Amino acid sequence: MSQTHFGFEQVDENQKARKVRQVFDSVASRYDLMNDLLSGGLHRVWKAYAVALADVREGQQVLDIAGGTGDLAKAFAARAGAGGRVVLTDINEAMLRQGRDRLLDAGQVLPVAVCDAEHLPFPDASFDLVSVAFGLRNMTHKDAALREMGRVLRPGGRLLVLEFSRPAEPLRKPYDWYSFKVMPFIGKLVAGDADSYRYLAESIRMHPDQATLKAMMKAAGFGHVDVHNLSGGIVAVHLGIKC
Ligand SMILES: C[S@@+](CC[C@H](N)C(=O)[O-])C[C@H]1O[C@@H](n2cnc3c(N)ncnc32)[C@H](O)[C@@H]1O
Repeated sequence: MSQTHFGFEQVDENQKARKVRQVFDSVASRYDLMNDLLSGGLHRVWKAYAVALADVREGQQVLDIAGGTGDLAKAFAARAGAGGRVVLTDINEAMLRQGRDRLLDAGQVLPVAVCDAEHLPFPDASFDLVSVAFGLRNMTHKDAALREMGRVLRPGGRLLVLEFSRPAEPLRKPYDWYSFKVMPFIGKLVAGDADSYRYLAESIRMHPDQATLKAMMKAAGFGHVDVHNLSGGIVAVHLGIKC
């Protein structure tokens, strides 16, 4: 059995999805609160930037992968309008349930599906935009997931990846201190779970940096990829065009 990483731990490939599921089962009910606390609200700015960049138009077909509690799907649905369609998907039912309930509370009814990004249950060339925010780093076979995202996009369609990335040099030490000391501490205090937030910090360190992800997207069939660094590279948006 091939090995892969789960944070800094080496695990059998077939164990990773189960371990990731345990993390998100554990954090689902506090996910939105913890996002605000840990990022000081910045995740809202990162997402707003990504949504503006995606430039979804009235009538477009959008697939949000690893959509969790639905922040991006909600924003895209307002832009795609009644003539468009935004599908919210995630591999984790607990996260998706939170997302569906939040959307219903906001008066939005969207199609929701539990599915693995590596095996999407949608036909070829059926979406104008595919988005994945803070989800790609949790996937076992990122290349396979990127290829699947390309498969369901129409030619000329766009893939938007919003993900933690590699910050600029002066930020690295304070960011490491914050990630490995403060995040698990707040996780323990507020969500009663330090381990999931330690995994968050470790999984970010194991994720490909800006240039590597860009190369992976090109290899997966995205002929043009733009990279936008946010907050000094703590987060990056990769926008790829399927050619
Ligand atoms: C950090 S949350 C991001 C949620 C949301 N996109 C956001 O930005 O707030 C990561 C999500 O990725 C999902 N995920 C992990 N592996 C996945 C996979 N193979 N396919 C689909 N979703 C996956 C998790 O269940 C979790 O809901």
